[in-house]
Amino acid sequence: MESPHLPSFRLDDRVAVVTGASRGIGRGLAEALAAAGASVAVTARNSADASGIAAAINALGGHARGYALDVTHTESIGPILARIADELGSLDILVANAGLGANHRAVDVTESDWDSMMDVNLKGLFFTAQAAGRIMLEAGWGRVIAISSQASLVGIRDHAVYAASKGGVNQLVRVLGLEWGAAGVTVNAVAPTFIYTPGTAERLDDPEYRAAVEARIPMGKVGSIADVGGAVVYLASEAAGMVNGSILTVDGGWTAQ
Ligand SMILES: NC(=O)c1ccc[n+]([C@@H]2O[C@H](COP(=O)([O-])OP(=O)(O)OC[C@H]3O[C@@H](n4cnc5c(N)ncnc54)[C@H](OP(=O)(O)O)[C@@H]3O)[C@@H](O)[C@H]2O)c1
Repeated sequence: MESPHLPSFRLDDRVAVVTGASRGIGRGLAEALAAAGASVAVTARNSADASGIAAAINALGGHARGYALDVTHTESIGPILARIADELGSLDILVANAGLGANHRAVDVTESDWDSMMDVNLKGLFFTAQAAGRIMLEAGWGRVIAISSQASLVGIRDHAVYAASKGGVNQLVRVLGLEWGAAGVTVNAVAPTFIYTPGTAERLDDPEYRAAVEARIPMGKVGSIADVGGAVVYLASEAAGMVNGSILTVDGGWTAQ
């Protein structure tokens, strides 16, 4: 049965770009978007990584192509996204996932820690969203989805720089949503709790650290990449047509406390 009250969750005929897709959440999101029917530009700093992951998606029956993209090389972002739109036919969905995460006590943070995290998590994300937005605004339809964090919404000990970068991401999402929504381009964020990835494995493999994290999550477990994939595919689809400027938590209730 079909109903006009159930818009499609499918992404057939859409082209999606994922940044930082060499591993972890980004790689999983590239696979999820492809499984939902999108053609996916898998981007990673290393072009062999990007091509290898695209080939793995194609081997499973999806449609993907790899591109090298370092989001701190801001001058290269516009030309690469334009090339993707040209080669894949359009650029409809951006998942701005590339990000660094690290724990530092605030008293130990160096200027270089601050600069490297802000360059990727905030500056790189903004200029990627701007380049994608320019293409989407021209086309009159688009979805920008930023991967934020629960640390954007509540304080988490030892995460000063990370929390500041992700809080900045949420504010960018709100402002871009205001500026672009009327032109058909929505801008939203997904804010996950701890997800087991290569970026968090070292911390979550420490049983004491993991137990402390899980004790703080009302659902009693860390999240999965699939949990983030469901939220991203939803926000990318027609089903989320009126969702704009919002921060969707995927945190098992962490920020409900
Ligand atoms: N895992 C969690 O618990 C969690 C929770 C909330 C939010 N998040 C967010 O989710 C995103 C992915 O996290 P993750 O755990 O999957 O991280 P991860 O395993 O450390 O992977 C990070 C990804 O970002 C890429 N990257 C780093 N610097 C880059 C740059 N300058 N240009 C392009 N790509 C770059 C890395 O690529 P290379 O291979 O080239 O280094 C890698 O693909 C991040 O934004 C993170 O803040 C994660």
